[in-house]
Amino acid sequence: MSVALPALTPLQETLWVSLTGRAFDRRQPRPILGDEMADEILRKSGYRNPELRWSPSLSVDVAHRAKKLDEVAERFIARHPDAVGIDLGAGLDTRAFRIDTPPTVDWYDVDFPEVVTARQRLIPHRPHAHAIGADLTDPGWLEALPADRPAVIVADGVVPFLAEDEMIALLKRLTSHFPSGEIAFNVYNKFTVWAANHYSGARFLAPLFKSRGFDRRDPERWDPKLTLVRHVLLTREPEVARYPLALRLWTRLAALSASFSRLGTTIAQYRF
Ligand SMILES: C[S@@+](CC[C@H](N)C(=O)[O-])C[C@H]1O[C@@H](n2cnc3c(N)ncnc32)[C@H](O)[C@@H]1O
Repeated sequence: MSVALPALTPLQETLWVSLTGRAFDRRQPRPILGDEMADEILRKSGYRNPELRWSPSLSVDVAHRAKKLDEVAERFIARHPDAVGIDLGAGLDTRAFRIDTPPTVDWYDVDFPEVVTARQRLIPHRPHAHAIGADLTDPGWLEALPADRPAVIVADGVVPFLAEDEMIALLKRLTSHFPSGEIAFNVYNKFTVWAANHYSGARFLAPLFKSRGFDRRDPERWDPKLTLVRHVLLTREPEVARYPLALRLWTRLAALSASFSRLGTTIAQYRF
């Protein structure tokens, strides 16, 4: 029996794309992320969308970028056991469960109030994990978070839904609120946004994009407190060994060129 969920807007409904991607990954013989909970949540929700069929580009890409962002959070928390963790536009992701945050860490999943209601109906309570129902562009929501602890902030599949001025304001609010920290997200450059508009599998997402795409160096220009410390090209990461054969061969070829690899999914990590 499926759980009754609030009506979601098309923007909020994008959460099903990444949740489905992680659930599909889990069902593969050699998963990249192996997120059992994503599969459970998808089944429990009763969500069905015949347009969201398994494809390597969906499950591999979504699972791989989630794994890299998990690693950013895990490494930061290992160095800062008193950290605050934030998942911006968390959807139905359960990163705090996946990385098993220690009780010394407070973890905040931020998304629209309707999404938070859906989370509360589908995801078990976890001590020290908090859901904040807010629009990321609203300046008020950060006030509820501690301001005296280092923060690790991740955004998975979220930045294209913010216009450039909204993204800049959000970054500045985050780097002003916390004394220090790291911010990481998957970059949507001009090519990614162009490709989303032209690739039939992503055409339903593209009209929701507010960003026209940006370069990994742009956030340093937008907010001088930010320094790019790592730019991960997924094509060159060890998880490629788990890709299905045809995609793996293609990715190995793409990995030979950094410029070409930058056209695919990349993770930018900044320190402040
Ligand atoms: C593609 S989904 C990704 C969800 C999640 N990060 C994941 O990986 O499963 C994008 C999410 O960003 C949220 N989002 C987009 N713009 C937002 C905003 N201005 N404020 C709060 N949430 C936002 C949507 O509601 C949605 O849950």
